[in-house]
Order: sequence, then C-alpha cells, then structure tokens
Amino acid sequence: MTVPALFQPLTIRGVTFRNRIWLSPLCEYSAKEDGVPTDWHMVHLGSCAIGRAGLIMAEAAGINPAGRISPQDVGIWSDEQVAAWARIVAFSHSQGVAAGIQLGHAGRKGSTAPGWGVDYQNSTPLDKGGWQTVAPSALAYGRYDVPLALDAAGIDAVVTDWAAAARNAMTAGFDVVEIHAAHGYLVHQFLSPITNERTDEYGGSLENRARLVRRVVRAVREAVGDSVPVFVRLSATDWDERGITVDDVATVAGWVHEDGADLIDTSTGGIASGIPIPTGPGYQVEFAATIRRTAEMPTNAVGLITLPEQANEIVESGKADAVMLGREMMRDPHFALRASTALGYKLPYWPDQYLRAQP
Ligand SMILES: Cc1cc2nc3c(=O)[nH]c(=O)nc-3n(C[C@H](O)[C@H](O)[C@H](O)COP(=O)(O)O)c2cc1C
Repeated sequence: MTVPALFQPLTIRGVTFRNRIWLSPLCEYSAKEDGVPTDWHMVHLGSCAIGRAGLIMAEAAGINPAGRISPQDVGIWSDEQVAAWARIVAFSHSQGVAAGIQLGHAGRKGSTAPGWGVDYQNSTPLDKGGWQTVAPSALAYGRYDVPLALDAAGIDAVVTDWAAAARNAMTAGFDVVEIHAAHGYLVHQFLSPITNERTDEYGGSLENRARLVRRVVRAVREAVGDSVPVFVRLSATDWDERGITVDDVATVAGWVHEDGADLIDTSTGGIASGIPIPTGPGYQVEFAATIRRTAEMPTNAVGLITLPEQANEIVESGKADAVMLGREMMRDPHFALRASTALGYKLPYWPDQYLRAQP
C-alpha cells in the first residue's frame, strides 16, 4: 500500500514523528494560579495522542511568571509544573506520540484577561493576579497597560530563563521544544520595527532586532543537547507596510538555523491590534514554502488547514514538511484517524481500544 505523504514518518535529529499531522499549540486558559497544568490539559492533549497526531505541541508555557499571557496560563519554571507536564508526556509516549512544548514570553501582551470568567477586559489588574509587563520599548498593545522597556540585564535574564525552561522541558520528558517568536509576543516585539524603537544593539537593523531570537535559540540548543529538535514559531509577515516581511523573516530563519534551530513553524501576524489579516483556506502555506525554499530548512504550515486532501497536498507538493492543525483538532482530536481513512490508508498504529471503530 502506498503511504500518503501526510503519513510518511519524518525524522529530525533524534526524533521520528510517525506522521506529519501535528497539533498546533493552543492556549486553554485552564491552569492553576501557579501555572500548573491540570486534568484539562491531560485530556485535551491526550485526546490528540489517542487520535494519533504525529506530534502534540503543548500551548505557550511561560518561561517565567511574567512570561505568561494571562494568569490562567501554564508555565514551565517550577518543579510542580514539571511534574504535571511529565504525566502528560508519559501518556503521549504510551501512545507512541511525540510530545513538544512551546516556550513563550508574552512581553507587552502579557497579564491579559482570559476570554471568559472575569469581569474586566484588556489587562488584568494587579490585585487580580496581573503584573507589570515588559517589552523592547514602552509602547502599549491596543488598550493594554504600558510595558516597561527591558534593560540589558533584563534581556540577559530572559535568555537565562528560556534556557532554564528548556532544561525543565527535558526533565519533563518532552521530545521537542518550540520557541514562540511569533504573534506579537516578546521575541516578535524585538523583531518588528513596529514595536522595537530601541537605539542600542537590540534595535535598528534587522541584525540587531534579531539579536534576542538568536541568543534564545543558542541558549535553548545548548540546554537541550544535540538530539532534541528545536522549532521556532515565526510570524512571516506583520501584514503591515511598517512591519517585517517574508524576506526579512526568511533571512532570520537562515540565521536561527545556523544557531541550532531545526524547523520554522510558519505563522503570521499578531504584532499590533487593528491590522486586518486576509485569511482563507491554507492562507499561510505560501509563507512556509518561501521560508523552506529560501532558508533551505524544514518548515510546517499552519492556518485554516482543515481537510485531509488539503493537508496531504501541502506535504506532497513540498510546500512544507508537516502541517499543524489548531481549531480543526479542537473540533476533532482524532483528525489523523479520520484523515487516514479519507486518504485510503489503513493506519497500522490505530489505537487498540478503538480498533472496532476502524472502517
Ligand atoms: C484558542 C486558541 C489558542 C491558541 N494558542 C496558541 C498558543 O499557545 N501558541 C501559538 O503559537 N498559537 C496559538 N494559537 C494559534 C494556533 O496555534 C494556530 O496557529 C491558529 O489557530 C491557526 O491555525 P488553525 O486555523 O488550524 O486553528 C491559538 C489559537 C486558538 C484558536
């Protein structure tokens, strides 16, 4: 039987992904107050492992408390968090599924209100668990509170915390770490001229604006060793003439590749409020293809990929090495099972417990 491109294994460093249907990181706003993942995360991620995704990527986890997006977000700075993640990783491994975690710092988009369950909007007040945010420059996102501009020592501390979080991810047993450098969070805030007005070595030229992401990639690579894949999620464009372009981002991809990153998880947007994004089926795939071609490194595509045939075509045509699915996997955590059937492929690792459901 021919194995569809979507179901061909992919090896990066010491990890072989059984297929190229990966769960995109999805914030669930369901952590305990101290950033500890809960049963919700076990079931959310575990369902996708049962559903035979090739990789489950856990949501943006704060590298430190101020790195979270909201007080309801997970972290990976404490032993208690590591122990809770380890259970989820062990379950995923029991299903033969690789587990990754996205390591994030929200910068000026931190301390925000979650989408439900609170009576305030924009920033979370200090007396309700909020915090003073930080950023490259003291420029607020929309109606959020104004961040403090990081000084040199503050930037060094962020890099140190990123490395510590990567070490914690290794202790929890994760197979992959992803650095969140997209969607207008801290690293992207340094990359984009819209949010970076610094006049020191971290501002101005693209080389200077990329200094933080390069330092983080090198620190994370050193922390995880040679056999662990390091992914970087980048926004390939700010969708705004003042912002970064796919050419800039392809250049940055090449740099971080030299620094030890293995794959660019190619997304777009998020740097400022009020910038429209022209979405549609597979609307970010061409960016993944451009970065793959220009930086000569693996990429995955993400964004409104919802159909088995569409996903298979993206991989088969060489536009990306894998696809990530977010909302479609929320609707159907067993998407990979369904896709194998749709593509006429008898999945050899269908879960035993569900064999009687295999068509
Ligand atoms: C509820 C929700 C939470 C998300 N959380 C994250 C996150 O933690 N990290 C991230 O990089 N992207 C996050 N995203 C973006 C998704 O990973 C994905 O890139 C986006 O939804 C587009 O893919 P889709 O059309 O398959 O959903 C989130 C999206 C949604 C809808």
